[in-house]
Amino acid sequence: MSQHPFYYKAKSPSNIAFIKYWGKKNTQEPINPSMSMTLENCYTLTELTVLAGQEDIKVDFFLDGMMNEKFQLRVIKYIKSLGEKYPVLNHCHFKIETSNTFPHSSGIASSASGFSALALCLGAFLKDQGILNDSVSSLARLGSGSACRSLVSPFAFWGNSDEVIGSSDEEAIEFPCEAMPELSDIIFLLETKEKSHSSSLGHEEMNFHPYKKVRIEQVKRRIKELKSAFSKGDFSSLGKIIEEEALELHALMMTSPHPFWLMSPETLNLMNYIKELRIGGLDAFFTLDAGANLHLISLKKDQDKIIEKVKEKFPAINFIKDSQGQAGHLLV
Ligand code: PMV
Repeated sequence: MSQHPFYYKAKSPSNIAFIKYWGKKNTQEPINPSMSMTLENCYTLTELTVLAGQEDIKVDFFLDGMMNEKFQLRVIKYIKSLGEKYPVLNHCHFKIETSNTFPHSSGIASSASGFSALALCLGAFLKDQGILNDSVSSLARLGSGSACRSLVSPFAFWGNSDEVIGSSDEEAIEFPCEAMPELSDIIFLLETKEKSHSSSLGHEEMNFHPYKKVRIEQVKRRIKELKSAFSKGDFSSLGKIIEEEALELHALMMTSPHPFWLMSPETLNLMNYIKELRIGGLDAFFTLDAGANLHLISLKKDQDKIIEKVKEKFPAINFIKDSQGQAGHLLV
C-alpha cells in the first residue's frame, strides 16, 4: 500500500549563550543553568519529508544539497533515541534537506539551529500522529542541549534555578528582559575550519573536572547578577558577566583532565582591541562559544559605529552582523 508523504519546513536560529552550558547529567540535562540570546540572521532551514508505516527506519540527510554521512549518523542516533518514546519513528523513511546561513562546526552553534529546526519538523509529525506529549524544546534538547534555547526568544533560560520561576532542566523558557535595550551581536569569523574538539568532548571533561563545584557556584552567583542587570537595563553589568563567562568557559577547557584550547591568536588580538574600545568610551563586550570566533555584544544602536572601528584596525576581517531575533518556527 503506498502512503502519501508528510512534509514540513522549519526555520530556526542559532543562539549565543551569555551564561554557558558546560557539562551534562542524566539524559542531556545541564549541570548548571544557561541563558542565551536568540539570533536573527544565523539560522538553519530544514525540510523534512516522512514516509510512515515502513518496516524499518531510514534517514537520507543532505546539507546544502550534498549527502553528509557524519551528520546523517548523528541524526539517525537522535531519531532512534526519540523512537524509544515514540516507536512510530522507528518505522519511517526520512528525507532531511538542510542549509545554514553561516559556516557549521566553527563555534557558531549550528547544532543549536540544526537540531531545533529538525525538532520542530519531527514534533509537527508526531503532533499529526496525535501522539506528541513533550514540548518541542525538550525534543530539541535531546539532539543538542543548546538547541532547546533556540525555540524561545529573545532571551532563553534553560536549567533548574531558584532564581528563575518556571525554569527546568527539561526545556528552555523565556528569560524576562523588562528593561534591556535591543542588543546586537557581531560575529567575527576568525576561523571557519572545523574545530579540533567538539562540545560533546568538552561536556564529558566536566564529569571529572577539578573545578566542577566552583563552576556551579559561580553560575549561581552570576544568574542573580544577570537578573538584576536585565531588570535595570544595565548593559555594562551584563557585559561584565558575559566576558567572565566566556573566559571561564575557555579556562575550564584549558584546565580539563585532558586540556585543550580553541582560541586563536586572532581571538586574543580582538579581545585586546575590544578592551581598548571600552577605554575609548564604546560599550562593547566579547563572548566566545566553543571555538575561536568572537561574538561582540553591544547595544544595537552602537553596532555600525563598532563595525567601523574594528574594520579600521583589522581591514580584512570577516563578520556577520546579527542581533536579538525570533525563535525557531515552522514555515510549512
Ligand atoms: O549544545 P552543545 O552540546 O553543542 O553545547 C553548547 C556549549 C556551548 O556552546 C559552549 C555553550 C552554550 O551554552 O551554548
